[in-house]
Parts: sequence; C-alpha cells; structure tokens
Amino acid sequence: MTIRSLYGPVAILALAALSACSRSSTSPSTPIPHLQKQGTATQLIVDGKPFLMIAGELRNSSGSTLDFSKPMWPRLAAMHVNTALTATYWELIEPKEGQFDFSLVDGAIQDAQKSNLRLIFLWFGSWKNGVSSYIPAWVKTDQNRFPRVQGKDGKSIETLSTLSETNRDADARAFAALMRHIKEVDTRHTVVMMQVENEVGVLGDTRDRCEAANKAFEGPVPKELLDYIAGHKDTLHPDLAKAWQAAGSKTSGSWEQVFGKSAYTDELFMAWNYAGYVGHVAAAGKAEYPLPMYVNTWCSMPAPDRPPGTYPSGGPEPQVGNIWKVAAPAIDIRGPDLYSPNQPEWIKWYRANDTENPLFIPETDSTRGAYHVFYAMGQYDAMGFAPFAIDELGVSPVTGARTEPADLPLTRSYEIVAQLAPLILENQGKGKMAGAVVNADDPPQKIPLGNYVLEVSYARSRMAPTPVAAKPAAGATAAQAPVIEGATPLPVPAGALFIAVGPDEYILASSGPVNISFSPNTPGDPIAGILSIDEGTFVNGQWVSGRRLNGDENGQGKFVRLNGGGIRNGSIQRVKLYRYH
Ligand code: DGJ
Repeated sequence: MTIRSLYGPVAILALAALSACSRSSTSPSTPIPHLQKQGTATQLIVDGKPFLMIAGELRNSSGSTLDFSKPMWPRLAAMHVNTALTATYWELIEPKEGQFDFSLVDGAIQDAQKSNLRLIFLWFGSWKNGVSSYIPAWVKTDQNRFPRVQGKDGKSIETLSTLSETNRDADARAFAALMRHIKEVDTRHTVVMMQVENEVGVLGDTRDRCEAANKAFEGPVPKELLDYIAGHKDTLHPDLAKAWQAAGSKTSGSWEQVFGKSAYTDELFMAWNYAGYVGHVAAAGKAEYPLPMYVNTWCSMPAPDRPPGTYPSGGPEPQVGNIWKVAAPAIDIRGPDLYSPNQPEWIKWYRANDTENPLFIPETDSTRGAYHVFYAMGQYDAMGFAPFAIDELGVSPVTGARTEPADLPLTRSYEIVAQLAPLILENQGKGKMAGAVVNADDPPQKIPLGNYVLEVSYARSRMAPTPVAAKPAAGATAAQAPVIEGATPLPVPAGALFIAVGPDEYILASSGPVNISFSPNTPGDPIAGILSIDEGTFVNGQWVSGRRLNGDENGQGKFVRLNGGGIRNGSIQRVKLYRYH
C-alpha cells in the first residue's frame, strides 16, 4: 500500500483539524485573496491587506508525498519565505475518472499553516513544460477519446491537443473540483493564488497539425480577435501589428490570410487555442472559488535559430500576449519564468508593450535570486518572486546535508525584503521606488528617483583577494585542492532597492557591495550633501535606528556604502540629504 492510499483516513482527521483551526482564527467575512490596483501597480490582497509574496517554488515531485515535503516547510519559513509554490497533480488527484483524492492538498495546507506560510498551488493538469506527462492514466491510455497533438510527420506526441473539447472539459472538471475543495477546507486563506497548467505550448513543431487543428487553421480567425486587433491598433505588440498590417489589415479571413504564412502565424494560432483552453479551465475553477489565477511562461527571446516549437509554441510569450488577453480573460497574470543571468534585460523584454500585465516571477534561479529580488521588487513593483527548487537550496545532492538557512545569501536578502515589505507595499505603483542589478565591471548607473539622481556603482574591495582553490584531484577532498595564486573569485553581482521616503530622504538596501552618491534632480542649490546616514532595521514596519554611519563607513561623507568597509552585507540604511552651493 502506498503512503498516499494510507493517507486517506488521516486526511479526514487533517481536514477536521484544519476547519477547527480555521473557525478559531478567521472571520467568515474576510474577503478571499484578490487583486487590487494601487497607482500603476497591482497588489495581491490577503485578508484585507496588501501582501508581498516573498516566495519559492518546490521541486516538481516534492509535493507528491507529505512525508517528503514535511521537513521543508519550517526550513522555508527560516529562510523568510512567506509563500510556497507547490504542485497539485491531476494524475494523483483524479486517479480514476470522477473519483477525487485531495489528501495531498489538505496535507500541504495544514503543514504550510503550521509554518505560517501561504501557498500557491500549481495545477499540473493537461500540460507541464509543453508535455502531458501529468494526465491521469485513464486519459493517457485513451488516445481516441483524448486526442493528441500531431506533428508534420503525421505522428502524435504525448501532448494533449487544445483542439479537443473532451480534453478541455475533463481538465476543467478536475480543476473545478480542486477549487471547490480548496474553498471548502481553506477558510484561513492559506492558498492565495493558483497557477493554471505549467509552461504550455507545442514543442517540436510550430503548431498542432491534427485534423481538427488543420481545419481550424484553414477556417476564419475568430471575429472577437479581429475586433480586438482593429480596436487596439496603437497598443498591439509590434510583431502582431506588423504581421497584420503586412497582410493587408484584414478584418476577416483564415489565419494565413490575415497574418501571412509564417512560423509566427502558427504561434498566434496556437496561442489562441492554448489561451482559450487554459482560460476555460481557469474560468471553471473560478466559478467554484475565484482566487487570482496566472500562467507561467517558458521564456525564449526571439532569435532566428529559435523558432516557436524550440520553445512551447502558443505559450504566453510577449509577442502573443494580446492573444492571451482576449482569449483567456480568467487569467489575471502572465508570469515569466526567468533563469537567465541578465534578468533586467529579460523583464524589460517580457513587459515591453504589456505594462498592464503585473509582474509576478513564478520561477527563477535561486542563487541569482539573492540579488535579482531587489531589482524586481524595486524597479517593477513585483507582487512576488519565487526561486525554483527552493527546497533544495543549500542541500547537498550527495549526502543530503543541509546548509543552515541563515547562511544562505537568499535568506539574508529575503530577511531584508521581509523587513521592508510594509514600506514596499505602501510605495508600490507611486513612482517612489527603483532597483538595480550592479555588476563589478558595469559603469556607474544613474537612476533618477524623487528629487535626486542616484549614481550607483559596484564597490570593489581594496582588501587582498581570497585565493581561489583549484579543482581537487580525483579522490582528493576540496581542502586538499591546490590554491591558485593570484586568482580572484568572480565578484557576485549586487541587487539594490531604493525608496524615496521624503523629499530629501531615502531607504536603501542591497544584497552586496554597492556605493551610491547623489546629485540634485530639481531646481535649487546644485550640490547634494549627506546630512546623516543611519543603519537600522524595520520591526513590524517601524524603523529602528542602529549605528550612525560616518567617516570610513560613508567615504568621509561622500557616498552611501551598502556593503563592505565596515558595513555588514545586507544593511538597510536611512539617508538624509541636504543641498549647498
Ligand atoms: C521550468 C518548469 O516550469 C519547472 O517545473 C521545472 O521543470 C524547471 N523548468 C526546471 O528547470
């Protein structure tokens, strides 16, 4: 007997415990988690208050037994994570058609609550990374009933076709049952958002070529889409506008008549069909329990050697964002999975022509996350940030030995973001925050914010470099490796976040060595001087001053030093400026 099937009776007890807790701590009138605008930002409101998701995503299989995931929740909390993203699996939730087992869902909610964590469930339903590996056996083994994508060679692949209402409705029924169940058990609003499917799109070809797909492709482009395009000519993604105009700005016709014959047209067609399907699944779930819902994107910046199909064709890439908007109104956010070192460039690409789409980063690299989080939160009002495989961060893949959470760079960054969260939330959407990623070799960045321009640069250490160890010989331990004389460790980029809290006052924080100097940005005396710098912490949103920083710690009054030279990594500083001539 598997752990899961043993868990059935336990789940009933867990459920009872869950609702007992719930009754005591949450008033039934507390609104469910929802999205709300503040200025130009969109915020997640949880229990009536804006909530910043300082998050992390568990590995794909971590949520498939409760025993495996149990030790992770307290570890995440110790890392200052407040929201965990974890999968729910169609194959385990509905192992037999119409028979549901929510024991893993209940267990995750209960365990997360014990560590004071919120949850985002990822619905691994019809697709995960373009493939239908999570569909239940009764779907997988009945290809006639549940049709697949067909490639150019006429062969089908293990990917459900979007062109089948049977596929769509089976998924939607399961997802609706899941949402009904969450509504029933989660009266404490532990679950704050849902991801619908995972990185969808066709891989291996630019589009589905099954009979139904070919028929739809040769049929008319839906009027709803053409009306949208004609009504939003000036704000369309440039690729969409170009393809439509080049083909004669038609208001009717087949996909190739309206957008021309190209791989991009195939991608538009797939986007329409994926968005329609996923939007339908999301709407069925929302009809039961309308939590905010998002989709995640396998991001691929366009390049001649990377046509759609090398990345999932039809997924919510920016160049088909308009299509997703029209075809999937139940999807509130399209989020980029960002693993590249140059995150600023990728965020810019993802959000160009789509600034209405709030920034939530559902997946990112957990090491670089320690500095990228400051940028996403400061520069883009990100409502959440979630490094992937966070449950394995600092865990040795060989021995399973765990680095103490406090010793992980991400923990230190998250601790700072957690302290700043009330201030960040208060300032989102108001143009009072900025962020930067600063590399050791970058020229200084000039960032206008409030009444000053901040000149931000990497602070290289003047201390003797730590020698770097060579790779140990086979069989030798790391400690036995020879030291490479003269080699310097690669400097880790720093992330920084700046908040203008008054006309001449800033709160500044970073993950690493950053220096900041100021010059006036508004009329008045031309030189900016430092009046005072205090290091400190935020305790429940209230500033508590620590050391007054001056002398060596602020370049003899010339700049703010956010790390090194007597400043501990990750210091938060409150800076007051004045002007003179
Ligand atoms: C992106 C997927 O969405 C995740 O589930 C996971 O497979 C990662 N890639 C692995 O890098």
